[in-house]
Amino acid sequence: MRDEETARKAKAGSQIAASYHTYFTSGQYDKRYPSPNKTTWQRICQLVTPSTHLIDFGCGSGRYLLRLQGKVARAAGFDISPAAIALIRERAALSGWDDLEILGPAPEALQGYIDRVGQADVVLCLFGVLGHIQDAHIRHEALLQMHRALKPGTGRLLVSVPNMARRFYAEQRVAGADATGSIEYERHMDGAHVVLPYQLYDPARLCRELAEAGFELRGLGAESVLPESWLLNNAFARWGDGVVTPLCPARWGYGIIAEAAPI
Ligand SMILES: C[S@@+](CC[C@H](N)C(=O)[O-])C[C@H]1O[C@@H](n2cnc3c(N)ncnc32)[C@H](O)[C@@H]1O
Repeated sequence: MRDEETARKAKAGSQIAASYHTYFTSGQYDKRYPSPNKTTWQRICQLVTPSTHLIDFGCGSGRYLLRLQGKVARAAGFDISPAAIALIRERAALSGWDDLEILGPAPEALQGYIDRVGQADVVLCLFGVLGHIQDAHIRHEALLQMHRALKPGTGRLLVSVPNMARRFYAEQRVAGADATGSIEYERHMDGAHVVLPYQLYDPARLCRELAEAGFELRGLGAESVLPESWLLNNAFARWGDGVVTPLCPARWGYGIIAEAAPI
């Protein structure tokens, strides 16, 4: 049973890693998502202090993590994509962030780090990371990993997921009327091609999965109202979204974002 599960995890992980290899090495990810979402960045800034120990679970090429240099006491990024790991290590070295720890691609690397340095005050899991794990059991395991990574009681998880009411309508139709938000999305970009699996969410699913992993919900909202790539590439869209998003309920968000505490 355990071997079967390990094999399932490895297969799912290697598919994602292959797609993100193309996405990151082609430069398309950074072109599409060149900077943090302003509203999410404000939420992060409210959670961190100069004494914070932070872990970015699914840090990618460092869109959020690298901007935390000098704002936290200790930080680590974890990702299963070797391409993401190589990119963020190179960028951390260039910016002189010598004690930033980049962990992965093996999932055990995160627990090894926690055993060595202790639990964190804040874990980020932003923009599609959890949503890329289609298997419910593996997703639960990932949330348990984040729970174990946080200080009990005072620790905070900031997690965002794609909203099924706002995204991938064509793919949801193809997946069928009885689908539970599990889809595959193909993206063609300047000669490159990636296939990305998604578990889409509604607010109830996110709250349920957090509770099942031992988290208590502290806040739920919209991550953005406009598609993230629009607002990152257009100053007017960014301004408008920054005004509207804090007023919108989670169910209207392009992504849904939750803050939760491990209990
Ligand atoms: C959409 S990107 C988000 C990256 C970053 N958080 C951001 O906001 O730009 C998704 C990232 O999740 C990573 N990922 C997917 N499944 C993962 C898993 N099971 N554990 C850790 N990282 C994972 C991918 O390799 C990719 O870097």
